[in-house]
Amino acid sequence: MQLNIAVLGGDGIGPEVVAQSIKCLRSVEETFGHSFTFRKELVGAAAIKATGDPLPERTLQTCKDSDAILFGAIGSPEFDSDPKAKVWPEQGLLRLRKELGLFANIRPVKVFPTLVKQSPLAKKIVQHTDLVIYRELSGGIYYGHKSINEDNNSATDTCTYTESEISRITHLAFKAAKARRKKLTLVDKANVLETSRLWRRTVYTIAESYPEVTLDSLFIDNAAVQMILNPSQFDVILTDIMFGDILSDQGSVIAGSIGLLPSASVGADYAMFEPIHGSYPDAKDKNIANPVASILSTAMLLQHFKMQEESDAVVAAVLKSFSKKIVTPDIMGSSKYGTNYVGDFIADNIMELDGSFKIN
Ligand code: IPM
Ligand code: MN
Repeated sequence: MQLNIAVLGGDGIGPEVVAQSIKCLRSVEETFGHSFTFRKELVGAAAIKATGDPLPERTLQTCKDSDAILFGAIGSPEFDSDPKAKVWPEQGLLRLRKELGLFANIRPVKVFPTLVKQSPLAKKIVQHTDLVIYRELSGGIYYGHKSINEDNNSATDTCTYTESEISRITHLAFKAAKARRKKLTLVDKANVLETSRLWRRTVYTIAESYPEVTLDSLFIDNAAVQMILNPSQFDVILTDIMFGDILSDQGSVIAGSIGLLPSASVGADYAMFEPIHGSYPDAKDKNIANPVASILSTAMLLQHFKMQEESDAVVAAVLKSFSKKIVTPDIMGSSKYGTNYVGDFIADNIMELDGSFKIN
């Protein structure tokens, strides 16, 4: 298969983890006889410094001309501490998602058996966790009207959802649940927010078309508690842009490290693959960042293009790195292995699997 992939490393550890993903995709290309091309472009703080714009036109065009986008991370502390800044890196990612119509952010949370002791939570709580968050990605409070008054003492962010925005991700989430353990949990704040009440009405109506899936709903505050007390009760979680952002970071505690969780952002025309973690500026260029979240995002990319065997081969190589303890220090404090070494090990161990391989 021939794929053109846009590579947006972004800020902080983004470029170095994405570099490991490219190694892995090169290895897949060679092992399975595909042809992938990579085009690197600027986004975020690096793009602001070079062009004044966190999403330069050329970057957007390259993404639109590509089959898929590999994204690293975004954000830089120098912009966080300047409340008067007119542009900041995160705007680049938000605009990119919007321009590409990426409305569904799919974030699996799984506990790998070899890493079960990694979680600060007890093994008996986390060990059977296998859930996926379907996070709405193009509406809600991130994209509402924003303002701050002249005296800088009052600010507004409005949260708006339309029925069609809710409905398109809801269908994806139900389809995913149907193919998994057939349970869908809607997470909202319907006891307070009007948008959440619209989510409830819309999702419960759509549920009638998926009779094989059991639907329930939780308020976000309770969902946060349930996820820590008993994560294995969840199969597919459907939620909005803000609750999904928070719940997915919480999910990474269950998995053992935020450096482990991948994601896919999909829409009608484009798909982008990125770790859920941020730019971790303190670790930049120190060769300590965990590349696994980015590498597992490439497994999601391969699966998206129906290359299941290739995707399994990437996951199998990641599992091998865990069992051989070839991991970065976030996983094992005493580890001497860096980002590059782990990336090389995983890339070198991508191979055709015999039929008996099962990920779980
Ligand atoms: C994420 C990030 C982004 C988000 C930020 C950087 C805008 O936290 O992908 O989870 O909130 O969507
Ligand atoms: Mn986040």
